[in-house]
Amino acid sequence: MSSETAAPAPPCVMIIFGAGGDLTKRKLIPALFHLCHGGLLPDTFAVLGLDRLDLDDGAYRDLLAAEVRQHVGSAWDAQTWDRLCGQLHYMKADFTDVESHMALCEHLTRLDADRGTEGNYLFYLAVPPSLFGGITRLLGEVGLTAEAADDWRRVIIEKPFGHDLESAQDLNRMLHETLDEEQIYRIDHYLGKETVQNIMVFRFSNGFIEPLWNRQHIDHVQITVAESVGVEHRGAYYEEAGALRDMIPNHLLVLLGFLAMEPPNSFDSCAVRDEINKVLDAIQPLTPEQVLTHAVRGQYGEGSMPSREQVQAYRSSPGVAPNSRTETFAALKLTMDNWRWAGVPFYLRTGKRLPAQYTEVAIQFKKAPTTMFKGMDLEDMNPDMMVLRIQPDEGIQLGFSAKVPGPTMRIGTVNMDFCYADYFGNAPATGYETLIYDCMHGDATLFKHADTVEKGWEIVESVMDVWQALPARNFPNYAAGTWGPEAAEDLLRNDGRRWRPIATPSPTRCGQ
Ligand code: BG6
Repeated sequence: MSSETAAPAPPCVMIIFGAGGDLTKRKLIPALFHLCHGGLLPDTFAVLGLDRLDLDDGAYRDLLAAEVRQHVGSAWDAQTWDRLCGQLHYMKADFTDVESHMALCEHLTRLDADRGTEGNYLFYLAVPPSLFGGITRLLGEVGLTAEAADDWRRVIIEKPFGHDLESAQDLNRMLHETLDEEQIYRIDHYLGKETVQNIMVFRFSNGFIEPLWNRQHIDHVQITVAESVGVEHRGAYYEEAGALRDMIPNHLLVLLGFLAMEPPNSFDSCAVRDEINKVLDAIQPLTPEQVLTHAVRGQYGEGSMPSREQVQAYRSSPGVAPNSRTETFAALKLTMDNWRWAGVPFYLRTGKRLPAQYTEVAIQFKKAPTTMFKGMDLEDMNPDMMVLRIQPDEGIQLGFSAKVPGPTMRIGTVNMDFCYADYFGNAPATGYETLIYDCMHGDATLFKHADTVEKGWEIVESVMDVWQALPARNFPNYAAGTWGPEAAEDLLRNDGRRWRPIATPSPTRCGQ
């Protein structure tokens, strides 16, 4: 989606369940603000927020104004806000109650008449997962999910989509009782990130990349999603989830899918999703024995961050049991059984309270087959490495060998570096703009199909089973502010490799 060429979204109402929640305030309304600023919302558009709070339209608008201003930062402009604000409405509702859903029907009929929204409804479920099934069932009961020839009804479902394969299958089954698969938009906010979408553009719109993108030339791939934050106020959720469930079957596999997929026939949603599903099918689930050697878990203890801030242990966080066995770090080595990637390991790691807030994909190429330079050992030469910086400091860098100037032959590593900001500026975005806009247009390419979600859980199922059967006895096993447990280093060391060192912010930079 590009605002230079894109047309405004079609007439519709976006109905947000959970309109008073954090997601709405921090992401959804700011994303609508950016769309509105870019001229991508039509006049025939309305938001109807639903929540338990007792508010009228005016009070709801006031509640959002300060929040949105804070979250859009320097992109704030009063004119855009006035326009969007006039399109915001509110209705008090009990999400479990059929009466509320009937009142919703009436409210929507009124909005259609007043706003010209033509009976097109986008339901956004920004609510705890336990409510997904009940809300869609009630929407169905009151007739709000039935599409006529000239209107559409779509439902966006937030993560987490189940907590294992069985619960994801149950949820899919429940949703399919009311909705067609084409009406369900399962969101993974990693798919809304420009740098993630760019993986496909980078691979498939540059002729020089694809010939190198395979087991002949690539030694291995590292995917790192590092967070310097702890669990903050989400202890209760995180205790049940842990790092593996929270990040790997969804966000890290999104990255892996885009990196490893075959070129789809088109950028059509079915074509793209099919190729991603083929990648997930090719990943070899770990056997219970392999879990012991190919999967690493960790939990942070107290420690010191690079900013010199002293932080408490995970077990001392609010909502966390003092003897918690929940992992805050997970690393996996995965392999794929297909022609392109056989024998190329993909190492994945993610964790909380690591030294940097940083996501990257590092692709290490194979070394030159021999060295013809006198006195130089092949072992001493650094392999070429391509790094896709997903966030922050978005960009792509290629590290390769070059002659160090001087009379003797010395070889050093240099970097070619592309930074998004240098070319495209820092366009303000929450990551939800494209996803919301695409859903309004009925484009599901960047949303997950039922199969994709289930395959994600299948891949991690054996790890969850073994970890549950053998609770960790050495937690906490890494200090806050370090790169995770020693076993994560061993995961690569045992294969004669090592994680690419990632720069940690200096105290001065953090303090800025
Ligand atoms: C969420 C997880 O899905 O993704 C969080 O529940 C995590 O625990 C977040 O912090 C990371 O997202 P991002 O965009 O900050 O990398």
